[in-house]
Amino acid sequence: MSCSRIASFVYLLTLASLLQTAFGLRHNCSDTGSFSAGDPYEANLKQLIEYLSNQTPQTGFGRRAIGQNQNRVYGLALCRGDVSSEDCKTCVVRAGNEIRQLCPYKKGAIHWYDYCLVKYSNIHFFGQIDNQNKLYLVNPNTVSEAYSRQTEGLLSLLANEASADPSSLYASGEIQVSGSAKIYGLTQCTRDLSSSDCKKCLDRIIDELPKCCNRLAGGRVISGSCNFRYESFPFVKA
Ligand SMILES: *[C@@H]1O[C@H](CO)[C@@H](O)[C@H](O)[C@H]1NC(C)=O
Repeated sequence: MSCSRIASFVYLLTLASLLQTAFGLRHNCSDTGSFSAGDPYEANLKQLIEYLSNQTPQTGFGRRAIGQNQNRVYGLALCRGDVSSEDCKTCVVRAGNEIRQLCPYKKGAIHWYDYCLVKYSNIHFFGQIDNQNKLYLVNPNTVSEAYSRQTEGLLSLLANEASADPSSLYASGEIQVSGSAKIYGLTQCTRDLSSSDCKKCLDRIIDELPKCCNRLAGGRVISGSCNFRYESFPFVKA
């Protein structure tokens, strides 16, 4: 490859990763209702996003309901358990601003980033496992049957660990596979869930391993209430 070719390749890679950071992983606009410009719902939603942007970074989780009756909006934000409060803030602010442009006038929506999740709705959803919103992301490199079995073992362990700690509902860890190879994983739930519902949520998505990630080197199942990720390389910040 010539120098300029390498340069443009690097440029494309950089652009691709910037775009992913800028636009997040995925979003979903819900069909639970719409509002019009100037409705009280719009102002309540704006206030909610501001609240979440300010409150979430302190602990990595925020939730609130604002407004009355049909103008009441429920929302939460969650940052990945290992990100700094600074990165958490950047992520929630960005996701909160972007989602309102991606789902204009929708009363409910969810936006997933690598580092955070922002969700709101006109329907009370706190404390309930979200089985509607879900996304799979994979590393398509294939691995051995044994690696896949160990992945399930690691994630089950991390599901127990996360749900046993109600203050974080988060766990990360690694296991040795063969030789020097390792599998790195994390599990996390939104902190409106009880410990037992967190466990239930994680068990359910871990059951999807054969469907999402059969013999794949890395994978994620990300729902509105819980998620896991595993990779063959360290991805959790120290
Ligand atoms: C988006 O929401 C709809 C309706 O709730 C659901 O059927 C669909 O699976 C969701 N998509 C994602 C990516 O979560």
